[in-house]
Amino acid sequence: MKRVTKAVFPAAGMGTRFLPATKANPKEMLPIVDKPLIQYAAEEAAAAGITDLIFIIGRTKRAIADHFDKAYELEVELETKGKLKALEDLRGMLPVNINYIYIRQAEAMGLGHAVLCAQPAVNDEPFAVLLADDLIDGEPGVTKQMCDLYNYYQCSLVGVQNVAPEETRSYGIVASEPMAERISRVTQIVEKPAPENAPSTLGVVGRYVLTPRIFHHLRHIERGAGNELQLTDGIAALLQEQQVLAYEFTGTRYDCGSKLGYLEATVEYALKHPEVSGEFHAYLEKRFCGPCRNG
Ligand code: G1P
Repeated sequence: MKRVTKAVFPAAGMGTRFLPATKANPKEMLPIVDKPLIQYAAEEAAAAGITDLIFIIGRTKRAIADHFDKAYELEVELETKGKLKALEDLRGMLPVNINYIYIRQAEAMGLGHAVLCAQPAVNDEPFAVLLADDLIDGEPGVTKQMCDLYNYYQCSLVGVQNVAPEETRSYGIVASEPMAERISRVTQIVEKPAPENAPSTLGVVGRYVLTPRIFHHLRHIERGAGNELQLTDGIAALLQEQQVLAYEFTGTRYDCGSKLGYLEATVEYALKHPEVSGEFHAYLEKRFCGPCRNG
């Protein structure tokens, strides 16, 4: 039985919804309080026992590789200035015993193409896919929840949650048959259907565990929604020969690819952050509750 030890992080998208912040910087480097989105995703994967992190990066994404590198100059500077707490935090930032692998996707041809670019590093093994702009606060992390399920069911899984009926155009949507608590067998998956064509309101949100057979299908799909090579279409083809399960994970998901979701995540993570939670809480109270109390 093969365990999941590899995770793919597609990060070559244009980040158009966050321009100009994403003009020279990848959207995956946007911070929630003090940590970039990509680091939350990397930590979630490491907590699931994953040891090989494979980043699919594009032209403006060098910052991601720099982020996970050792920063010698910065360390020396912090040491010289006696900023030992900051130095300790910086050194402890990365999970240990992890391999970081970077693959350049020359052209952003879609999520399916990005995942296909990972094949040389994944080979013939099951692997997780994490879309870092879907930040999911779960305990244990969603990737761990899904890897445990993979170990049991030995088949591909997509993380899903119910979305508003009018929002199906933003998601891969599945039709499925109930199988166990929170788990159903996918019978159909469609990328970004209009509400009137959506087979349900169960949307795929940024977490997958896939068998390597997906690569075969990704090589053969044609351009789909948005004229892109869609991972969803690869999964639809995979479904014809292998079981794929939909898993309604436990945890709160923030769509950090949208401004509103990003702001919500910032507020919630700040309220839990050991350094700023107290003062931030007081600020919010003053900002929003002061006038009600006074009035
Ligand atoms: C991608 C996938 C889509 C999925 C979504 C989750 O779309 O193509 O199937 O539901 O991520 O966030 P994107 O948001 O990149 O357009």
